[in-house]
Amino acid sequence: MSGLNFMSSLDKTGLQEMKFLDEMIDQVIILDKSKNICYANKSAIDRFGPNIEGQSISSILRDSNLLENIDLSVSDEKAKIIDIEIKLPNFQFYKANIIPGPSKLCDQDQSVIIFLKDLTEIYKTQKFKSDFVANVSHELRTPLQSIKLGLETINKGHAENDFESQKKFMPIIIQQTERMESLVNDLLSLSKIELQEHIRPTTEADLNEIISHVIKVNSDLLKKRESVVNYKADKGSHKILGNRDRLIEIFTNLLDNASKYSNKGVSINMSLKIKDNSILYSIKDNGVGIPKKYLPRITERFFRVNPAKSKEVGGTGLGLAIVKHIVNQHRASMNILSEEGKGTEFLIEFPKL
Ligand SMILES: Nc1ncnc2c1ncn2[C@@H]1O[C@H](COP(=O)(O)OP(=O)(O)OP(=O)(O)O)[C@@H](O)[C@H]1O
Ligand SMILES: [Mg+2]
Repeated sequence: MSGLNFMSSLDKTGLQEMKFLDEMIDQVIILDKSKNICYANKSAIDRFGPNIEGQSISSILRDSNLLENIDLSVSDEKAKIIDIEIKLPNFQFYKANIIPGPSKLCDQDQSVIIFLKDLTEIYKTQKFKSDFVANVSHELRTPLQSIKLGLETINKGHAENDFESQKKFMPIIIQQTERMESLVNDLLSLSKIELQEHIRPTTEADLNEIISHVIKVNSDLLKKRESVVNYKADKGSHKILGNRDRLIEIFTNLLDNASKYSNKGVSINMSLKIKDNSILYSIKDNGVGIPKKYLPRITERFFRVNPAKSKEVGGTGLGLAIVKHIVNQHRASMNILSEEGKGTEFLIEFPKL
């Protein structure tokens, strides 16, 4: 007996017998012909709230396509399959199966059964992937176009026989090649760390030693940008369970950002504080700051507050996405405090060894 034939033999009291529908992952909603909900299974109640029975379907799923197809299904007595995309307050995506139900299932003589398959997470993952590919392609294409243009000009363009002009193009070609190289390196780093994010490092790492190393390695660059670094570490052990190379990536990117997104001559204050169960790292600059509305998006891949400025200072927008994954891998937590025009502070709390 098919599910629908089985339901045909039900009446309103039969709704009480449909407890088995509570075991379904999918949401099941039954409407009377006025589109009011006369039954919702457990999954639907968990999703849309405990008081949905008696409410109109449009109060929980405001989608004109759904409402039209319910009417159509009642009039032509045929099942429909449609996609439902809800944008606000949260993005939701469902595949809905609308089936004309048996009479007398609700109090009225017609009913409509809606099976909803929640595909929100799958949709989001797919969208994220295609956005990512589009972003990567765009980011690679921009420097590639400059390189191609430069080479064409040298090869057959106005610089073909002009050694001086050829020399002028070289630094641009080299700079754009370096940009592509750092983008590819960041992408590789990101994909590697994503794969390893769930594996907590098992080796000992000394945060004080690593931070001092990062400051030393970057001293020439910091001098060039006239950035002054003040670093203070509490006395005691600064050991955590950590991957030295990955931790170097965190501190390098945060230090690079602090000096990059500040005017020349900026003071960057870094500290390492030992707490009862954790070690708290802070890096604070008095640079351009991050507008409040962008703070939640700042660790997204390719997100830059000011893409033009980032281009000028050589940012790919992957640094903080990498930092976030490494922080997670170390079971640490990150907090960002910032005020536009005043400066930014990144705080990372690592569990103590
Ligand atoms: N200390 C900071 N002060 C102000 N803005 C910042 C700071 N750190 C990051 N940002 C903003 O966040 C964006 C993302 O930073 P992120 O480190 O991910 O990328 P990036 O520095 O542009 O490029 P990359 O690190 O890949 O070279 C930056 O483009 C900048 O707009
Ligand atoms: Mg950066």
